[in-house]
Amino acid sequence: MSVFVHRAMLSRFYKLATTSVSSHACIVTIVNRMMSGCQSEKVVPKDEVIRFIQDCMYKAGTTLEDAYTVGHHLMIADYRGHFSHGMNRMQMYVKDIENRITDPTARPQIITDFQAIALVDGKNALGQVVGKYCMELAIEKAKKFGIGMVTTRGSNHFGICGYYTMMAMEQGLIGFNCTNTSPLMAPTRSVKAGLGTNPLSLGMATGDGDEFVLDMATTAVAVGKIELAIRKGEDIPEGWALDSDGNVTRDAEEAFEASLLMPLGGSERNSGYKGYGLALMVEILCGILSGSQFGPNIRPWKTGNDQIADVGHCFMAINPEAFASGSKERLSTLLKQLRNLPVAGEEPVLIAGDPERLHMKQVDREGGITYHPNQLKASEEFAKHMSVRPMKLVPKSV
Ligand SMILES: NC(=O)c1ccc[n+]([C@@H]2O[C@H](COP(=O)([O-])OP(=O)(O)OC[C@H]3O[C@@H](n4cnc5c(N)ncnc54)[C@H](O)[C@@H]3O)[C@@H](O)[C@H]2O)c1
Repeated sequence: MSVFVHRAMLSRFYKLATTSVSSHACIVTIVNRMMSGCQSEKVVPKDEVIRFIQDCMYKAGTTLEDAYTVGHHLMIADYRGHFSHGMNRMQMYVKDIENRITDPTARPQIITDFQAIALVDGKNALGQVVGKYCMELAIEKAKKFGIGMVTTRGSNHFGICGYYTMMAMEQGLIGFNCTNTSPLMAPTRSVKAGLGTNPLSLGMATGDGDEFVLDMATTAVAVGKIELAIRKGEDIPEGWALDSDGNVTRDAEEAFEASLLMPLGGSERNSGYKGYGLALMVEILCGILSGSQFGPNIRPWKTGNDQIADVGHCFMAINPEAFASGSKERLSTLLKQLRNLPVAGEEPVLIAGDPERLHMKQVDREGGITYHPNQLKASEEFAKHMSVRPMKLVPKSV
């Protein structure tokens, strides 16, 4: 079934509902079930997801604390609905440890510390361990100086950017972070990967329960969405990827094989050069400032598993109180104004972060995370491989 047919179904469901967040969530639940192709009435409680990942990472050689850090991060990615960056990344991390590519017990180290700014060497530790350390440092600096900025080199795949953004938001701060990644994007007019999917995230809370959490790859999509299309046997929309000859393709398998994603926006005619520019901006904040690998020099995706990643990240925490007073109230007003704009169809205007919040509500209602049967099967096999207790599923609560 194509993406477009699913969209048509989604629209039909929207017609049946009001635009309140709760009915919206209900529709997303129904549609997610259809889209995942998952009939399972079983879910995995969030704590059990963390327990399973923690057991696997600890068995692979990390400390118990670091294993928890990775487990919590990957659970949050799945909880927010970003399954491409959740538990399904764990095997990659374990493989990198088994192949002595990542150092499972390394600690990040501050190289230079200049008031609000610091440069950190991740020492080839797990990306989530480095990321948490650096955002904690940026938060500490923001509390002291109004702003904290940390760039780091010598790191690994650190998961979803949104996790670190929310660490700052929980402290009443604005959070920003980004990372470079293995080359996957063909810059506008090129037919070869020169930059990564280079995601970035910025978030700010209003103080009255609302928030903006932008968390996005600077390619049209993260590569995980193409993997998902393959799993569902769907075509991909035009503007996502090129084939090995550099032509725009709608064939998901061809796109995955070539691994040549188009920048956010797609073709030059559709302003894809803006996504390309954003990816380069991320690269400056990460690789260029930190001295990590950068652009096409980062280990290749899929075939670079025998090389150290040495990726770079950038983290910022900013105290909004350092600027004009009332910024949280103004943000609250703005978000309400945007949500209440007249709509073209049946679907309400959303704010970045809403789809993830809706997914989390669904998980909470159902008493756990619904995984695709393939993910559950892979996890069961992986439990055997690691000799750890497999994940325990429980019946959905609704
Ligand atoms: N570590 C890495 O190497 C790496 C690389 C790429 C992506 N990622 C992560 O993968 C995840 C997925 O990235 P993505 O680009 O596929 O995300 P996405 O396209 O699903 O969402 C991007 C952003 O758009 C917002 N959004 C979605 N629909 C919206 C709407 N209708 N109105 C307003 N806002 C809307 C979302 O809330 C989100 O903030 C992110 O968490 C990202 O950090 C990580």
